[in-house]
Amino acid sequence: MALTREFFTCFLCTAMTTVYHCEATAPLPPPTGLKYSWLDPFTVNVSWQQPRGLQVGEVLYKYRPVNDETDKSVVCTGNWTNFTGRFLTEEMGSDRRTYHVWTVKSCDDRLNERARAAITVRTPKPRAEVKDIRCLINSTGMNCSWRPGNQTFTLSYRVYGNSPGEMKKCDQPYSSGCYLKVDAVNDICVLLDTGAGRSTFKPAHEILPQKLSVTEEGDNLILSWPPPELCKNFWIYEVCYNKCNEPKVCLNFTTKGESGKMAYDKRCLYEFQSRAWTSHYCLPIFSGFGDVVTYGTNEPPDGTLTVVAIVIPVILSACIILSCYCFRRHRSIICPTIPDPSAIFKEMMLNGNKEFKTTPGSLYTPVPEPVEPCKITLSPRKTPDTHV
Ligand SMILES: *[C@@H]1O[C@H](CO)[C@@H](O)[C@H](O)[C@H]1NC(C)=O
Ligand SMILES: *[C@@H]1O[C@H](CO)[C@@H](O)[C@H](O)[C@H]1NC(C)=O
Ligand SMILES: *[C@@H]1O[C@H](CO)[C@@H](O)[C@H](O)[C@H]1NC(C)=O
Ligand SMILES: *[C@@H]1O[C@H](CO)[C@@H](O)[C@H](O)[C@H]1NC(C)=O
Ligand SMILES: *[C@@H]1O[C@H](CO)[C@@H](O)[C@H](O)[C@H]1NC(C)=O
Ligand SMILES: *[C@@H]1O[C@H](CO)[C@@H](O)[C@H](O)[C@H]1NC(C)=O
Ligand SMILES: *[C@@H]1O[C@H](CO)[C@@H](O)[C@H](O)[C@H]1NC(C)=O
Repeated sequence: MALTREFFTCFLCTAMTTVYHCEATAPLPPPTGLKYSWLDPFTVNVSWQQPRGLQVGEVLYKYRPVNDETDKSVVCTGNWTNFTGRFLTEEMGSDRRTYHVWTVKSCDDRLNERARAAITVRTPKPRAEVKDIRCLINSTGMNCSWRPGNQTFTLSYRVYGNSPGEMKKCDQPYSSGCYLKVDAVNDICVLLDTGAGRSTFKPAHEILPQKLSVTEEGDNLILSWPPPELCKNFWIYEVCYNKCNEPKVCLNFTTKGESGKMAYDKRCLYEFQSRAWTSHYCLPIFSGFGDVVTYGTNEPPDGTLTVVAIVIPVILSACIILSCYCFRRHRSIICPTIPDPSAIFKEMMLNGNKEFKTTPGSLYTPVPEPVEPCKITLSPRKTPDTHV
């Protein structure tokens, strides 16, 4: 009896736990009725309704842009059923963006992310067919241009952040761009409408490349740039150079207005290019690489070595070959046949024999040679019978 009761209690326990567990992991229903509206050309308002069958204030909401899978981009709106998002076509590389919105019990809640509602936000017009948008700044304004030029366009802008703010028209339009009289210190956002399409962007602050000057001081090269108009003491210059046909090397000079210094190899021609950007103490400004600046000359020591190492051996061997040839050809002139020393000696001995015939026990007995007996026999026999 006790066993049955125990079993029953246990069964009930398990059943209840399962039910409770199921309830806890059951996905909360996603929000419904998602819609969006443009508050201005750069700002979209996405809103929705609370899922049906829930008490008001029972749930909270989270959303995130779909293309961004990192958790950081997840935002909890609390009990608000709307959010506003900044949307710039040139930043997105697109005229649309999808958001996921889902329901949570609390903002710390990481569960229930599977039941999401999705909404794709589109700009009122497709993205305009413009490329290479560049905005060159100086202390009095910003010159924005793009390609292709010669399109009709309307351009308007406002300070970034004032949303929704009053838009200003282009101050000085020209065929492929517009000059804006803005304070470069401010970030702005720009709407470019070409009729068929629209592009929205926050211009990057670019300046024309600063002209690099190179001078020599002892064993060093001094690199300097004209004093910048903006962000005076907060520039980093990247200098890339090759010397003596070696691979390119890049150096960063973080200056507070002074010049850069680097070791100088006087045997080399240097080819420099530099670009610049501001350090994070000032608003972000950058320049592209400027024209190539050269310094020094390639001196010939390496060249002389090459001559020594290649040309001289070639000349030498040619000389040797030639002299060998000459030698073989005119051997008889340059070097007549050297008489055999033993032959000379023998001759001497023979003459000696004639003189000292009486001397007995001569120490040297010449080996008879084919020529010699003839010589000897001819001289004593001067008889007529040889003429027979
Ligand atoms: C966003 O849209 C919703 C629904 O249309 C609206 O209630 C809300 O006021 C809008 N938000 C802003 C900031 O205009
Ligand atoms: C959101 O929560 C606040 C309190 O935190 C409450 O006053 C407000 O009514 C709630 N709004 C909605 C739409 O539930
Ligand atoms: C959401 O809408 C309310 C009005 O319904 C508005 O006061 C609030 O600013 C909106 N929030 C966002 C983030 O747009
Ligand atoms: C800025 O650029 C504009 C146009 O390029 C020029 O007219 C103006 O003089 C420049 N301002 C300064 C301070 O150099
Ligand atoms: C702006 O730049 C374009 C080309 O880059 C040039 O033709 C034009 O004169 C510039 N405008 C001003 C006001 O500097
Ligand atoms: C615009 O058109 C003019 C004349 O039609 C031409 O001279 C100029 O090069 C064109 N500019 C661009 C950027 O296409
Ligand atoms: C110079 O700085 C840039 C940006 O901080 C960095 O990417 C680059 O590697 C640096 N170059 C050198 C040679 O340190």
